[in-house]
Amino acid sequence: MKTLQEKIEAYKKEISAFTAADENEIESFRIKYLGSKGLVKSIMSEMKNVSPDNKKEAGLLLNEFKTFVEEKFASLKSATATVDTTGDGKSSSIDFSLPGDPMPVGARHPVVLMRNRIVSIFQRLGFAVAEGPEIEDDWHNFGALNLPEHHPARDMQDTFYIQQNPDWVLRTHTSNVQIREMEKASLPDRQGKLPIRMIMPGRVYRNETVSARSHCFFHQIEGLYVDENVSFADLKQTLYFFVKEMYGQDVKVRFRPSYFPFTEPSAEMDVSCFICGGSGCNICKKTGWVEILGCGMVHPNVLSNCKIDPNKYTGFAFGMGIERPAMLKYGINDIRLFSENDIRFLQQFTAAI
Ligand code: DAH
Repeated sequence: MKTLQEKIEAYKKEISAFTAADENEIESFRIKYLGSKGLVKSIMSEMKNVSPDNKKEAGLLLNEFKTFVEEKFASLKSATATVDTTGDGKSSSIDFSLPGDPMPVGARHPVVLMRNRIVSIFQRLGFAVAEGPEIEDDWHNFGALNLPEHHPARDMQDTFYIQQNPDWVLRTHTSNVQIREMEKASLPDRQGKLPIRMIMPGRVYRNETVSARSHCFFHQIEGLYVDENVSFADLKQTLYFFVKEMYGQDVKVRFRPSYFPFTEPSAEMDVSCFICGGSGCNICKKTGWVEILGCGMVHPNVLSNCKIDPNKYTGFAFGMGIERPAMLKYGINDIRLFSENDIRFLQQFTAAI
């Protein structure tokens, strides 16, 4: 018995004095003492030589020794845990036992979620994405869209003008991108660029009183398809496809005649209320229908304004807001929440990708 205890004491001294300069030395420590042919294993096997009377005491001694070795191993490891933090090949010591810095996962903004969803549906139909400027000249926001100066329809959209230049406005709709894309396609060296099949998301501005239901800036998505022989039937089929992908196969659709200066004929499209299914609720104001977009056949004047021959080409266009469908989908009851950047609001959409 005495001899086992003495042996252990001697080993403990040796082990206490052990220092390791790098991982290799720690590894040799592990192999020598804790490995499958190591000292701890072999000394444990001495149990069988201990007389039954001393077994209990010897067992305690051996277990305590094993713990001692394991603790030494752990302390060697944490003392030499190093990392090259500066990238200069030299390592500095880091305490890996400290809790890590939290890495919060960001969330996509609900407007972005809704925009991506709408865009991806049209991308599957072969529409490409285009963007245009938010500070726009009068021609692209109004004139080319068949809204000459003093045209009463300009009042449909309360405009922010830019003080420095009376010709500039904050665009009131994404329809300006239609014009820019058609102009590009009609440049002499771009004649081959027709047909145009594009979807154009972006932010728009209107001089409106901010409330729970309306804001001075919001988002729209514009669609445009120009080619030979494009008809109203193409417009309807495209929008039917969109609506079914967006709101499900059972949704009902209706077109109401409407007026936009840049389309003729023009229509507004309603879908059966996806909150109450058409039976009537507060969202659809008891009508069973929710208006989601304006659309129509591109007015011949608009094509001519962009130097596209209206006798050869026809086109359809549509424009829809993004906030409203996002509010309906996520149950958001105040449009101002979208731009307040309240983290408690934004965090709720982490899982909604
Ligand atoms: N620009 C219109 C608006 O902001 C929406 C719109 C209606 C766009 C009909 C279109 C369209 O392209 O064809 O209210």
